[in-house]
Amino acid sequence: MTTLGKIRELGLVKTTLCAAEIAQSRVLQAVYGFDHWHASQGFHCRCYKQMVVDLADQLRPTTAVEIGCGLGDILCRIQAERRYGLDLDEGVVMAARRRHRDKSQFVVGSFADVAQTREPVIDVVVMVNVLHSLDAGQVRDGVEQLRRAVEVKHLIVDEIVERENKSLHCHKFAEILGDGWSRIERVSDGSSRWLETYRAEPA
Ligand SMILES: C[S@@+](CC[C@H](N)C(=O)[O-])C[C@H]1O[C@@H](n2cnc3c(N)ncnc32)[C@H](O)[C@@H]1O
Repeated sequence: MTTLGKIRELGLVKTTLCAAEIAQSRVLQAVYGFDHWHASQGFHCRCYKQMVVDLADQLRPTTAVEIGCGLGDILCRIQAERRYGLDLDEGVVMAARRRHRDKSQFVVGSFADVAQTREPVIDVVVMVNVLHSLDAGQVRDGVEQLRRAVEVKHLIVDEIVERENKSLHCHKFAEILGDGWSRIERVSDGSSRWLETYRAEPA
């Protein structure tokens, strides 16, 4: 997208913050060698990220987890006492630790590794811009692994809008998650995805 296109989408202030963030992330990328995506798609560069933070904050969580947290720019803005980010990419986890020397903790891992938090209850698990590369069976298994490891009260996920890239899965989470979950929120980011909050129902 051109700079003018970005300004139209984000406004001048966010476009400037996005450019500053890109410059900062490129330095981290040179050191830790993580995927280019993280350096170009910072918090201020994508509208959905603030929306995810707002959805999570509405739940007033004490504990928050993000699976596929990348550099942790969503997670670290959620108002929770304890925050844990998990990602399979060791380089990005090391960079996230370096960037956020606060009460967020970052772990190399995925769904089942949420047990490493040693939290019995997680108020919200965020999984955005990550599940579209897994098929429905893998998503279902992943959520089951999560629930075997800890009690999860809410999930925030994203359904991407169907587009030309057919290799990405546009999940219907209400069907995938089944009766154990109720959808309590569904909002559009205005372009590429729906953001949804699910509440766990008592067994
Ligand atoms: C496109 S980035 C999104 C990062 C962040 N969620 C965001 O929206 O800013 C996807 C991240 O998910 C991670 N990832 C992919 N599959 C994963 C899995 N099964 N478990 C944990 N992390 C995963 C990747 O390493 C990458 O850092």
